[in-house]
Parts: sequence; structure tokens; C-alpha cells
Amino acid sequence: MASNLIKRIAVFTSGGDAPGMNAAIRAVVRTAAHHKMHIFGINNGYEGMIDGDMRRLDIRDVGNIIYRGGTILKTARSQRFMTAEGRRSAYEALQAFDVDACIAIGGNGTFTGAQVFSEEYNIPIIGVPGTIDNDLYGTDYTIGFDTAVNTAVQALDKIRDTADSHNRLFFVEVMGRNSGFIALSTGIASGAGNVLIPEVDTSMDRLIELLRLGVKRKKMFGIVVVAEGNKLGTTHEIARQVNEAIDFYDTKVTIIGHMQRGGSPSALDRLLASRLGFGAVEGLIEGHKNEMVGLVNNEVVFTSFYDAITKEKKPNQNLVRMAEILAI
Ligand code: F6P
Repeated sequence: MASNLIKRIAVFTSGGDAPGMNAAIRAVVRTAAHHKMHIFGINNGYEGMIDGDMRRLDIRDVGNIIYRGGTILKTARSQRFMTAEGRRSAYEALQAFDVDACIAIGGNGTFTGAQVFSEEYNIPIIGVPGTIDNDLYGTDYTIGFDTAVNTAVQALDKIRDTADSHNRLFFVEVMGRNSGFIALSTGIASGAGNVLIPEVDTSMDRLIELLRLGVKRKKMFGIVVVAEGNKLGTTHEIARQVNEAIDFYDTKVTIIGHMQRGGSPSALDRLLASRLGFGAVEGLIEGHKNEMVGLVNNEVVFTSFYDAITKEKKPNQNLVRMAEILAI
């Protein structure tokens, strides 16, 4: 479809929610309105698309949401959209509303679905990266990452107080299904002693060696930040093994969990969401389709869904090295 024929856009959020999704919805709706487009909000991600659960959104519907966590459009992880019948129903529903193009705010799973769907039905789709995990190639940061890291750092600061008072070793698990971005940034910003992330090979022996070294250097308490997707095992299991090997510390486990997914988005996330929501609509007008909009070196860029979901984004090795050195 020629880009200047796009008059009716549908926007939805899908997958795990992320602080800043509302700011992105607001930017999409208002940019589309500026360009005299009609905009529909689909509820519950692909589930709502399949069920035709969508409504017109106007500029006032997205007032007062820029500071709110979660997503006013709700979100879901849809099994039905993974089936050909589900996608056919979704296509029919979009046709019933005369929707010309979609903007999908989500992560890896969302864009995997978007890529299949856009190829099957030739519907232009632009993806906006909204996931706390920051694990998408084609953008330096994803919406929600900064807020999640700030939440985790606040929790770590509190844990540090009690760890210090009791001379305890804490294992603190942060989110990141297959990635260590949250763990690495949280570890550096909170001054943790060790960080375990899936992208860096390590072993229990090495971890124990580093912790023993810390004891020798008179570290009276410790904090190990563990990415949920780390390769050494569950956080409880890692803590148990360390506890058996080192009797100097009393060990404790804290799992921060879904707290990292909520809360008012940071200024950085609001700014990122505004730029990417705006960029998504203007990108569609310029003829971009089946791509994710991202921010690389502070510039708005477009990356094919294929690259965004298949190319691996790795944590900066200099940061990994620095985290170790600063934690001596
Ligand atoms: O992808 C974001 C994320 O928060 C991951 O870090 C985590 O593994 C997963 O979602 C949890 O998903 P759910 O909320 O469906 O349990």
C-alpha cells in the first residue's frame, strides 16, 4: 500500500508490559491525529485484534497517561495468534474497521507475530520496542528498561542497608528472561559485588573464588545480582551452593520480580517512548513497513523485524569488565 493512502491506523500493546508504554500510545495517537489519520486502540494485544476488540482513540483519550505505568490498552501473550486461524480472524477484524496499518508496541514475541502477519496479509506494521529486558537489536534502549533498572537499584540500596547491618551475603534476582541488561546496569549502579548474566560464561567455582577473595579483602557483606536467565541455575540453588562452600556469610535470597514491570516511567523512558511513538507514525507515512523503530546513537532508525528479532544484542564488554574492576 502506498504510504499516503494510510488513513486508519490501529495501535496495540503486547507481551509483558513496560513502564512508558502509555507514553508511546499517547505519542502515536497525537502524531496520527496531527496527520489527520483515524486511530484505533486494540485492547489486549493480538487477543483483542482476533476478537475485533478495538475502539477509536482521540487526542483527549490519551491525556493524563504519560506518567502512568502499565498500559491503558492492556496486554496479553496470545497463543491464538500463533495459529493461522487466529491470524485470519485478526485480519478480518482489521478489515471490518478498514484499518490500513498497525503499530505494535512490545518485544520479541510481539514482533515475531507481526512479521508473520504482515507477510501473510500484506499489512504495513511498525514495531515500537517496549520491554524492560532491553534485548532487541536495532535500538540502544527499549521503553521500560530505564525505569526497571531504577526500581531494581532502589531495592538494592535498601537491601544493602540490611546486608551491611547483619554482615550477610544477598543474592538478588532481577528480571531478564534471556538477557542480562537489567542485571548488569543494576549491578553497576548499585555497586554490587558480583553480577551473573547469561551473556558471560562463568562457573560456580569462579563465583566462589571471587567471593572468597572478597572475604580476604575484608568485605563484611556482599550483594550478588543474578539475572533470572543466568546459566548457573536458579537463584535459590546458587545461594545454596555458595552457602555450603563459604561459611563466612549468612546468605539470603531476594527476588524483586514483577515490581520491576510497574511504576511511573522515568523521564528517560517517557522521552524515548515519545520519540519512538512519534517516529513510528511518521515512519509509516514515509513508507516504512515491517520494521521496528529504534534509537541508535540518539538518532531514530528503522530495523527490519527479521533483524530485530534474530540478531543478538549483547551487553557492552567494557561494562562487564568495568563492573568487575569496580567491585574489588
Ligand atoms: O519480557 C519481560 C519479562 O518481564 C521478562 O524479564 C520476564 O522473564 C518475563 O517478562 C515474565 O513474564 P510474565 O509476566 O508473563 O511472567
